[in-house]
Amino acid sequence: MSSGGYLDMDLLRLSTAGSVDDGKSTLIGRLLYDTKSIFEDQLEAVERASSQRGEEYVDLALLTDGLRAEREQRITIDVAYRYFSTPKRKFIIADTPGHVQYTRNMVTGASTAELAIILVDARNGVLTQSKRHAFIASLLHIPHLVVAVNKMDLMDYSEDVFDDIRRDFLDFAAKLDAPDITFIPMSALKGDNVVDRSENMAWYSGPTLLHHLEHVNVGATRNLVDFRFPVQTVLRPHQDYRGFAGRISSGSVRPGEEVLVLPARTKTTVRAVDTSKGEVEEAIAGDSVSIRLADEVDASRGAMIVRPANVPNVGTHLDAFLCWMHEDAMVPGRNYLIQHTSQRVQAQISKVLYRIDVDTMHRQDSAGLGLNEIGRIHLRTASPLFYDAYKSNRETGSFILIDPGSNVTVGAGMIRGPVDESPTEKPVSRDVVWEPWNIPLAEREVRAGHAPLVVWFTGLSGSGKSTIARELERRLFAMGRSTMLLDGDQVRHGLCGDLAFSDADRDENQRRIAHVARLFYEHGNIVLVTTISPFAKNREFARSLVPEGRFVEVHVDTSLDVLRQRDPKGLYAKADAGEIPNFTGISSPFEAPTSAEIVLDTNSMSVQEAVERLMLDLLER
Ligand code: ADX
Repeated sequence: MSSGGYLDMDLLRLSTAGSVDDGKSTLIGRLLYDTKSIFEDQLEAVERASSQRGEEYVDLALLTDGLRAEREQRITIDVAYRYFSTPKRKFIIADTPGHVQYTRNMVTGASTAELAIILVDARNGVLTQSKRHAFIASLLHIPHLVVAVNKMDLMDYSEDVFDDIRRDFLDFAAKLDAPDITFIPMSALKGDNVVDRSENMAWYSGPTLLHHLEHVNVGATRNLVDFRFPVQTVLRPHQDYRGFAGRISSGSVRPGEEVLVLPARTKTTVRAVDTSKGEVEEAIAGDSVSIRLADEVDASRGAMIVRPANVPNVGTHLDAFLCWMHEDAMVPGRNYLIQHTSQRVQAQISKVLYRIDVDTMHRQDSAGLGLNEIGRIHLRTASPLFYDAYKSNRETGSFILIDPGSNVTVGAGMIRGPVDESPTEKPVSRDVVWEPWNIPLAEREVRAGHAPLVVWFTGLSGSGKSTIARELERRLFAMGRSTMLLDGDQVRHGLCGDLAFSDADRDENQRRIAHVARLFYEHGNIVLVTTISPFAKNREFARSLVPEGRFVEVHVDTSLDVLRQRDPKGLYAKADAGEIPNFTGISSPFEAPTSAEIVLDTNSMSVQEAVERLMLDLLER
């Protein structure tokens, strides 16, 4: 079965972008005109208008510009879709104007395109605007680019002019991810090499534009390998029927095949695949189907059916390119909704890595993104998405962001992959490769019923870090929380048994503890760490290993006078007598935190009071 237009090999979706000046409207008009795709009445109107203006040629731009002027008043996203066909193929052109709203329009128009036409005016050569188009086309992974070198008639149809432009463009394109670029010299106005072969450029042996459009391979972005079926809805018309309905994003499915249902990861078998025309033996990307499974599976809208040996990424922390489409700038940390396949969940931008200047392709530091700006970001979602890199799957690799208040689309994104969560320190051996966590943290959270945390107690020896943390852990444990207590004195009995108290040894001690804390964090625990950690930089490092907001620094603050009085282990007396070298607070510094989340003044506070304070704070988190 091949039902959907989506997979129709006879259909090519293409996009053009540009301003009126560079001849784009004329080019589209020429394509429509020479392929006789214009309705007779429209054609007459254009011919009439052209002759009224005393023009020698039919002004084909009138055909497209007229329609557009109207649209621009009413709709924000300004993409005009045009259809034409030849005996070989059908074509859909997403046509976007080149004014200020350009980036947003182009991203919208080009997001499903398989070919982009980039116009270059032969008189001007490769300008910024052409580069922008090419950059966005490559960002959107449009597999085929056509550089239409237009207005060749005004340059005496010169081969040298064409060659220079091609060389310039290729120089620039070397920086892009653009696999297939075809250069065609033409005059849209005179009709050279658009539909009919030009007699003015005998030196050119390549195809005309239309010939190229008719023959270019359109299968390239169609992912027929990775089966992804986002569940739109569960159909239950009567007792005996239960089907999961939706549209296949990529790959194919047949009855009898083993499948895995996310997020539950239930393995089962496809019993039947139904379409509006009845049961089928196979369905492929683009088909709308209802899948019946052999077993009762608990799944609803937003679930995804895949193959057990070919599972997408599952996670809540994504690295993506984002094009911002709204007047109100994007603000990191603000709540948006993400629409990804059939899922809609809350999301926040956790980080803007950089903004891309679309004219120069330079990376710029930026706190947020304004209208029409493109940047690379990190995004956190409230529950796991099932996604692929946009590069390998345009459907499961793309998303839009929605403002929850107004329900307006504010951004469009292309996923690069999971955020690289490997520690910033790289292994000594370059042959060690980071492997992602086995079970995504989001799944652990669901099972545990709580979020993980690192609670880092810092303070002088004897201040009460361990006593408080032990009591706190008891309380959390009693509540059924997964906990881990990393006690400095215990750690120094094994993992860090080789280290003493020089600055360097303390650094190493802290480094190991920080990493262990992180490992337990990533496995879903509330990690309580009690270690003097006298140096601010060590504490900052530990903080850097977990996401923002997941590290709680607790300063257990007791004055030296009180500690000397208490001196439970007799260490202060010894240190004062000079018997313990590098003793924190006496012969080695303690850099008190300046921005700890919690300060416990244990000069006066009891252990019970301290634990109550912490419980209140942690429950809030
Ligand atoms: S840290 O400085 O590296 O963070 P850590 O918390 O692991 O120290 O170990 C501190 C424990 O070691 C204290 O509880 C204390 O009993 C003991 N200790 C022994 N020598 C020292 C010293 N020179 N300075 C601080 N603590 C010491």
